[in-house]
Amino acid sequence: MNSSEKDTKKRAIASRLVRAGRDPDLTGPFVNPPVIHASTVLFPDTDTMLGRRQRYHYGRRGTPTSEALETAISDIEGAAGAVICPSGLNAVSTALLSALSAGDEVLIVDCVYGPVRHFADTVLRRMNIDTVYYDPAVGADIGALFTERTRAVYLEAPGSLTFEMQDVPAIAAIARERGAVTLFDNTWATPLYFRPLEAGIDLSIQAGTKYIGGHSDVNLGFVAANQRHWPALKETHGTLGLCAGPDDIYLGLRGLRTLAVRMEHQMRSALTVATWLEQRPEIARVLYPPLPSDPGHALWKRDMTGACGLFGIVLAGWELADAKAFVDGLELFGIGASWGGFESLAILADPRRYRTAAPWTGEGPLIRLHIGLEDPDDLIADLDASFAGVAEAKLSR
Ligand SMILES: Cc1ncc(COP(=O)(O)O)c(C=O)c1O
Repeated sequence: MNSSEKDTKKRAIASRLVRAGRDPDLTGPFVNPPVIHASTVLFPDTDTMLGRRQRYHYGRRGTPTSEALETAISDIEGAAGAVICPSGLNAVSTALLSALSAGDEVLIVDCVYGPVRHFADTVLRRMNIDTVYYDPAVGADIGALFTERTRAVYLEAPGSLTFEMQDVPAIAAIARERGAVTLFDNTWATPLYFRPLEAGIDLSIQAGTKYIGGHSDVNLGFVAANQRHWPALKETHGTLGLCAGPDDIYLGLRGLRTLAVRMEHQMRSALTVATWLEQRPEIARVLYPPLPSDPGHALWKRDMTGACGLFGIVLAGWELADAKAFVDGLELFGIGASWGGFESLAILADPRRYRTAAPWTGEGPLIRLHIGLEDPDDLIADLDASFAGVAEAKLSR
């Protein structure tokens, strides 16, 4: 048993994050693993090669660098095994392909990350796999959506644009009863604040690009599986020929070490900013499950032990042009996709474009904010100044 296995059993996750995946037998006495760039791996003789009697045999299939991160992810997820993918979206598509075959049907939550919907509507459709989108509020009623062909249920909570929570244990239990595989995109809470496999999910997906990378400089994805689904996941991942670059893997492991301290800080700042925003007359709703006013608060409190710094605001009856001016007027919030880095971001989003099962009815435009590591008082001052700028522009029209 190596040190990380002992950690998994006894220690709090913050302690495990510091050591998970470290194996002196593999990487020596160094705190961090070496970054091994490899395609060819040499064997001492033909028998060893033909008999595969060597731990590593081809760079794509694993190196001490990739194994360190895989083991770390598997440990903190409480999984039978985990794979590394070159992006979060690829982690989703790999997980779905490991669970589905031609002619199957999959249930996907309507608030799913947009490109997953595109994957389902194009690649899965070409494979004669049908997708039924469902209302995130469905809960135990999901059973009514099952047909003989339903083989998988895909969840994401909170939705990364509209922030609805889902009743994960209820959905997972019904899916298991019906013999369907469950997949959960846990990028928002990360395994620090929610462990999907413990809630009955089979495949836990993480866009490592976000909080685990944590510095907006890497694209990575992870899928962790329980015992039941690990063989299918490992086989699909290997057959698709997936691997990530060793430098990115190294950065992923480095990010993992500081995940707890960054997320805790960003959660606290986000709560400060979200609570301030909630009082503003310009705001119809703040979409953030940790707020007691959020409709998903009870589920969040029951299932998750914390939150990240990503939330939405719905502007009360604003014109689109005002929302654009508000985002453009911010100085400390960059305008850009992705989230989970150390910097604050703001984007204008229109969920109406994506939804089919539970149409989005906002009171006005939706802006998604990511709260970074800046001082929350400075972020509030920045938001305040931009609100003032929009008010002035409105008056002079
Ligand atoms: C919830 C969620 N899942 C998955 C992804 C995909 O991650 P990546 O950009 O690494 O492909 C994203 C990206 O924004 C996301 O927000």
